[in-house]
Amino acid sequence: MSKSISGFSKLSKSKKIDWIVDTYFSNADDAKRVLKQYWNTDERLQQLHDEFIENTITNYYLPLGVAPNFLINDKLYTIPMAIEESSVVAAASKAAKFWLERGGFKTSVISTTKIGQVHFIYKGEFSTLKLFFSKIKSKLIQDSKSITANMEKRGGGIIDIELRDKTDDINNYYQLHASFETLDAMGANFINSCLEQFAKTFKSEALLFDAFSEEEKQIEIVMSILSNYVPDCLVRAEVSCKVDDLSENDTISGEAFANKFIQAVNIAEVEPYRAVTHNKGVMNGIDAVVLATGNDFRAVEAGVHAYASRHGKYSSLTHAKIENGVFTFWIEIPLALGTVGGLTGLHPLVKLALELLHKPSAKELMQIVAVAGLAQNFAALRSLITTGIQQGHMKMHLMNILNQFEANNEEKETITEYFKTNTVTHSAVVEAINKLRVKS
Ligand code: MEV
Repeated sequence: MSKSISGFSKLSKSKKIDWIVDTYFSNADDAKRVLKQYWNTDERLQQLHDEFIENTITNYYLPLGVAPNFLINDKLYTIPMAIEESSVVAAASKAAKFWLERGGFKTSVISTTKIGQVHFIYKGEFSTLKLFFSKIKSKLIQDSKSITANMEKRGGGIIDIELRDKTDDINNYYQLHASFETLDAMGANFINSCLEQFAKTFKSEALLFDAFSEEEKQIEIVMSILSNYVPDCLVRAEVSCKVDDLSENDTISGEAFANKFIQAVNIAEVEPYRAVTHNKGVMNGIDAVVLATGNDFRAVEAGVHAYASRHGKYSSLTHAKIENGVFTFWIEIPLALGTVGGLTGLHPLVKLALELLHKPSAKELMQIVAVAGLAQNFAALRSLITTGIQQGHMKMHLMNILNQFEANNEEKETITEYFKTNTVTHSAVVEAINKLRVKS
């Protein structure tokens, strides 16, 4: 039976580990060894990671891979990707190469507005609330000057604040719905600080507003928080080429490929079961770059999937068409990203990833990330409608199976060679390992 503990966060790292291994593990020494195996020998670097969060006991590794040959708006990029799924980086690289030979990716940022809200309860006449809001709107902005001054110097800041009546949804529920431009910062701290200041001013000014009754003066702030739904922080990426140029070999004509590809996209546009998996493939590319560049992939995931449901039904993030003999495949997605602040200046690998990407602005990073999503989706659909996904997937997964069986380098080499011309399945790999081991 495990037990509860109080004051855990105040224990030293080694005492935390002692408690965990003694409480949960049959072999405490072994558990400790595994945890410590992942500590960095550079104590300063380890301390940096320890201090990112509370109760750090070790580091959790993910591979950081790179996908070269991405031509985006005529500039070449090698894209860093942090991900555990074996086939993702290989697929991205393949798609990059395919489109490198066909003009590359074209991208544009459509908008960069972010949203935050103060949710509050007001018991009274809406017309009086509206009057109050119009009187104090400029004070809401003025009182936030100490927070916004730096952002404003660089050209960003608060764009607008609206009063929204939400009483159709919940009795007495209203919002201050604010929009922001946060430039190269993801902006979560900036937005939340502004919102909390709005809430403070709003509440205190209400107490002084003569047109309010005593009850109306008692505005209750429920919460002040940014929204991760950013449909007006939107980026577009596309690829296009003549339909005939889509053909790579004699197995399928460009036209047949394009038609089948568009059918696959159309299915994801109308069928939510397929759309979720289709978009999961998009997110394989997006999350990997978002993570490698120190951005908040949970925020991106939440916002992207909400956007995919914006018409009331979950649907594809990508679209495809043929017009005048030209095949076009594109994505439009909301991405709130930062290239300053947060982890970007702290995590040495994030700094390295950003330098690899030519130190992009947030707008440039939005475009690179959108391309990674589009490329990943292209690679997945291309496999799905031709060879099937398993061929490439299992080829990449082969090494995981070999590692499960603790194959040595010589065994790995022999078996990898064998599977260059044979179909990889879990049982076929196990059989090959057993045969090899019996022989030797
Ligand atoms: C696997 O991680 C992603 C795919 O399932 C995406 C798709 O089906 O489009 C291959």
